[in-house]
Amino acid sequence: MKYSKYSTVIIGSGIAGLYAALKIEQQVNLPDGLLLITKSKLGESNSRYAQGGMVAVMKENKSDSTASHISDTIKAGAGLSEFNTVKFISEHSDTVVKDLLKFGVEFDRDENNNLCFTKEAAHSVRRILHSGGDATGKMIEQALCKKVSENSNIDIYEETVAVELLTSKNECKGVLVFNDETQEYETIYSPAIILATGGIGQLYKFTTNPAGATGDGFALAYNAGAVMQDMEFVQFHPTALAIDCGENRFLISEAVRGEGAKLCDGDGVEFMSKYDDRKELAPRDIVTRAIYNEMKENDVDNVYLNAACINTEKLSKRFPNIYKKCLENGIDIAHDFIPVAPAAHYYMGGVKTNLKGETSIKGLYAIGEVASTGLHGGNRLASNSLLECVVCAYSVAEYLKSVELKTPKQIDENIKSLLDKYTDEDVILDELDIPEMKKQLQEIMWNYAGIFRDEKSLLTAINKIEKLKSGFPRNYKCISRDEYEFKNMLLTSLLIANCALMRKESRGAHCRTDFPDTMEECIHSCITKKEGVPDFVK
Ligand code: FAD
Ligand code: SIN
Repeated sequence: MKYSKYSTVIIGSGIAGLYAALKIEQQVNLPDGLLLITKSKLGESNSRYAQGGMVAVMKENKSDSTASHISDTIKAGAGLSEFNTVKFISEHSDTVVKDLLKFGVEFDRDENNNLCFTKEAAHSVRRILHSGGDATGKMIEQALCKKVSENSNIDIYEETVAVELLTSKNECKGVLVFNDETQEYETIYSPAIILATGGIGQLYKFTTNPAGATGDGFALAYNAGAVMQDMEFVQFHPTALAIDCGENRFLISEAVRGEGAKLCDGDGVEFMSKYDDRKELAPRDIVTRAIYNEMKENDVDNVYLNAACINTEKLSKRFPNIYKKCLENGIDIAHDFIPVAPAAHYYMGGVKTNLKGETSIKGLYAIGEVASTGLHGGNRLASNSLLECVVCAYSVAEYLKSVELKTPKQIDENIKSLLDKYTDEDVILDELDIPEMKKQLQEIMWNYAGIFRDEKSLLTAINKIEKLKSGFPRNYKCISRDEYEFKNMLLTSLLIANCALMRKESRGAHCRTDFPDTMEECIHSCITKKEGVPDFVK
């Protein structure tokens, strides 16, 4: 097996990983260099598909303030957002946006060259920056990818899957990776491993997330012994285009509702006022449940979004990609209703971290969607994710400036015995029908651990996943990226279903029909591999 060493290894090349790479290279002393690993091509990630924008509490936006953003975030978070985290992230937004501008990111501006701010659900003012109209993620990611690719101090491994964190006595000393093209393994030793592996959308039948969002980072961290927090909290976006286009559904950004579009049934009858005074701009969990309810009551697969009330020129200028994608599907959004339905979109749960990105394991850091910092609580406020990605990437780089990055010694009995499991040649590796198994898992999660859950459905989910798992005879070594992903999907699904079963209340995006009330006490769920069952802590 190949061996190498680096002062820092970043796993994942979404916006969190790319920005962390640039900031760490700029500021941190890296005697053994910096490596960025990604399981597909650089920049292929959830980040690339972000539409609506990025929250930015900017000094020049006089109608906004950090107090207002903190208050909106905490309200949406259903009692589980951590005040200090929200404050930290909000207060750093001005700095990181100015830094992104220096890295070549261009946010949309008006005719006087002032930054344009838009509004999305549950924000009390216009504070969301966007780029390329509705292509914010792509524009940020392209600018950062360019800088990373041009930087000769950043080594990049593409098509390389992180398969195991090398941990001994609660210290992470490196990572084992598998190159899907060459089928080779490599052990990389490093004193700082940063997980930036994104989310879990692909665990569900309907999702806005691309194929790579298979929950790998959660499984890696859990297996390494890290504390995982609030794993039951999955965010379902209310308005995905209800037309199947491959492995995911195209998003119709909340910003379309922010600009005035209305939700209605097939006859054009609007229904949101039945559910919340804020109507289309109520927090995401409320709008999602309202739509799901309408679909169930009327026994239909979707409701509609009517954007025809928005000026046509504005629609095509502000949402060029949505406009184009809908046209490709025979829908002219300036005139026609858009069929929409909820889809798994974002994961609030994750690897518990502090504001320096530290996890409960020494030498292991987590940033971006894989981390649970306490910003989003039980329900993420729109466009807070990209902000969290950049602020936390910035912050881990700041912290690493003060750490002496000494590469660990390669001889460690615990790690050696773990690596032996991958070199064991007696493992029988039959071909498995992974696409079919994935499909079954996605159906199970959607039907039994989705928008509405109860004890019976969650126990069914757990039993069915266990059964599926028994037909997947891989403990450690797999033969392909697909298999490694599926292994991670099984584990992360079980964590979600088990934590959802144990939280006997409804809060934010976690809706238990058998426990509809919200408990007075706001408690986080924490689960580790050692304990096996979630513990609820303040
Ligand atoms: P990602 O961007 O998902 O990147 C993860 C990276 O890790 C990828 O490069 C992946 O290949 C790599 N990876 C994963 N596992 C492994 C492994 N085992 N080994 C090696 N590499 C691995 N948020 C907002 O704030 N505003 C928006 O407007 C917005 N719109 C969205 C629209 C869509 C359609 C979607 C899907 C999400 C949207 N979000 C939005 C959410 C936001 O895009 C994500 O939360 C954010 O981009 C996550 O960034 P990340 O860097 O943490 O992870
Ligand atoms: C959207 O554009 O609706 C997505 C925004 C987000 O997920 O924050």
